[in-house]
Amino acid sequence: MTIDAGPATDGTPAGRSRPGYDAETTARLAADAAQIVARYPESRSALLPMLHLVQSEDGYVSRDGILFCAEQLGLTAAEVSAVATFYTQYKRHPNGTYTVGVCTNTLCAIMGGDAIFDELSDHLGVGHDETTEDGAITLERVECNAACDYAPVMMVNWEFFDNQTPGSATDVVDRLRAGEPVAPTRGAASVCTFKQMSRVLAGFPDGRADEGVGAGEPTLAGLRLAREHGWTAPADETDAEAAPDGGAPAGGAPDAGEAQSSAERKPTTDADVDPGGKAESPGTKPDPSKGADA
Ligand code: FES
Repeated sequence: MTIDAGPATDGTPAGRSRPGYDAETTARLAADAAQIVARYPESRSALLPMLHLVQSEDGYVSRDGILFCAEQLGLTAAEVSAVATFYTQYKRHPNGTYTVGVCTNTLCAIMGGDAIFDELSDHLGVGHDETTEDGAITLERVECNAACDYAPVMMVNWEFFDNQTPGSATDVVDRLRAGEPVAPTRGAASVCTFKQMSRVLAGFPDGRADEGVGAGEPTLAGLRLAREHGWTAPADETDAEAAPDGGAPAGGAPDAGEAQSSAERKPTTDADVDPGGKAESPGTKPDPSKGADA
């Protein structure tokens, strides 16, 4: 179906019909887009969640989705495409119902991640970024998920499946393809679809964020041991060195986000007072044509 989607932002002459969502879909997504755009001081800053929004509609960033984002944000289709093609979370072809991502970064790889990926690839008959014929599974190699303490890790639509083996991973994908309920090993109690997950990433919570265990025993083991033994982090020696009397640095350490310009720092050494080795009269500029001993 084609619509006249209003003023063209992609070079299409004004008034000419072009591909786009139908009127009902456009109105529904425009209401969602208004909520997203309202979160940002500049509408163009809303592009990333907007791309997730169109993925929640189409299952990938479609041409209709690109035009919709461009029209809503006052961008060109080329500008939207440039962003959509930069990030791997944005799909340029229809994604499966479930993205199964196997971490093959260093730790997971040596703990079995490469073997899990190879087993799934053989079992499903697809390679990286390919989708099974039934449209159920898109298989991916993914980068570190910051879950190395549970290596090797597999993600299904960004839910954690920890401490996997080739056998447990194939069991998960078989149950997903059979339409059986599958529970992640941490976090939410169930796995949603790619479109549902994309809507959450667009900024529309599904109420499942606080389900299940967040930080499990392996993640907390170091903290527990430190408390049992009374271990604490060593004092920051750079603070003591900077302090003129060996105590707290003059003015105290800057808070996070506070300006730390050296021009504002109180002098703490002779070099701070006289960088050239000789004191300058107030208002006198060093002559760069002269050496330090001139
Ligand atoms: S290397 Fe796999 S989660 Fe970090």
